[in-house]
Amino acid sequence: MFMKIKKVCVLGGSGFVGSHIVHRLSAAGYQVKVLTRRRERAKHLILLPDVQVEECDVFFEAALQRAVSGCDAVINLVGILHESRRASFDKVHMELPRRVAVACQAAGVKRLLQMSALNAADNAPSAYLRSRAKGETAAMQVASETLQVTLFRPSVIFGRGDSFLNLFAKLARVMPVLALARPEARFQPVFVEDVAQAFVASLENPATFGQTYKLCGPKVYTLRQLVQYVVDTLRLKRVIIGLNDRLSYLQAWAMELLPVKLMTRDNYYSMKVDSVCDCPFPEVFGIQPMALEAVVPEYLADDTPRQVYLRFRSKAGREQ
Ligand SMILES: NC(=O)c1ccc[n+]([C@@H]2O[C@H](COP(=O)([O-])OP(=O)(O)OC[C@H]3O[C@@H](n4cnc5c(N)ncnc54)[C@H](OP(=O)(O)O)[C@@H]3O)[C@@H](O)[C@H]2O)c1
Repeated sequence: MFMKIKKVCVLGGSGFVGSHIVHRLSAAGYQVKVLTRRRERAKHLILLPDVQVEECDVFFEAALQRAVSGCDAVINLVGILHESRRASFDKVHMELPRRVAVACQAAGVKRLLQMSALNAADNAPSAYLRSRAKGETAAMQVASETLQVTLFRPSVIFGRGDSFLNLFAKLARVMPVLALARPEARFQPVFVEDVAQAFVASLENPATFGQTYKLCGPKVYTLRQLVQYVVDTLRLKRVIIGLNDRLSYLQAWAMELLPVKLMTRDNYYSMKVDSVCDCPFPEVFGIQPMALEAVVPEYLADDTPRQVYLRFRSKAGREQ
């Protein structure tokens, strides 16, 4: 028997993955409430059918409980790659999932989908991955017959608007030489639409209750291969230098000191374990995961300065 769900509340719905999930939920006929710290960040979702955007401090217990009440399901996608003075990994990845699960239980929400990350483990080499494991445990501890929880652990996610391949594309456009930390680290990138479909498909499916799913694409790449692929796709000639372990650490440490964080030592520690799956894409979702080569050229080419300029002109109603 499938669970019947009408209204879904999405935390982190304004972000890269969240926006794709919200589009899918809306297209599938769900009513969606997106919680955001600033409405402005979710304005691209406001015009979707049955999507409501609400400002909410999700760390404020009463506000969170008010926000989730009346919803049948909650999807928590809130996450950070770098800590800041205001947001630690433990606060965002452990404390919040616990609070969300407790708020769901108290408000009678029957379904919770919690985003995590591949390689989340209590003994993982990075604080990011350890905090993810603690969040998974916290959410599962609150799960019950009346609150069914499912956890998702994707590898790095690609798609229009991603911050992984697009970051390397941005760097490659301006730098003749790319110095790569941990060039032999392995990834199995998964397409954002496949991740979104897995979330939406699991909402009402009891076979997924209480499960943890690893989500990976069809192919494993080293970081060097991925960056070379981006450079080739952009038809650039760039020198890619792989740093040894010591220099990788030093690069991460130096970059951590910059005002805009592209990488930190914790990211370096995360890359000590390969971000690859030991199993195929979960059969229960009925998806053949999309190959990176089938979608990346289209959106990377679209992000050239010329294309961005032409998009602006077209939006402004000017001829191209
Ligand atoms: N992208 C990947 O390759 C990847 C891989 C594995 C796992 N994940 C996980 O998947 C989730 C979504 O990733 P994404 O790439 O879509 O990230 P994203 O674009 O950075 O979006 C993150 C969302 O989290 C919310 N958020 C961030 N910090 C917050 C805070 N301190 N308080 C409240 N809300 C906060 C933001 O909401 P507002 O700004 O609207 O408040 C934003 O919508 C994250 O948990 C991420 O760790 C991503």
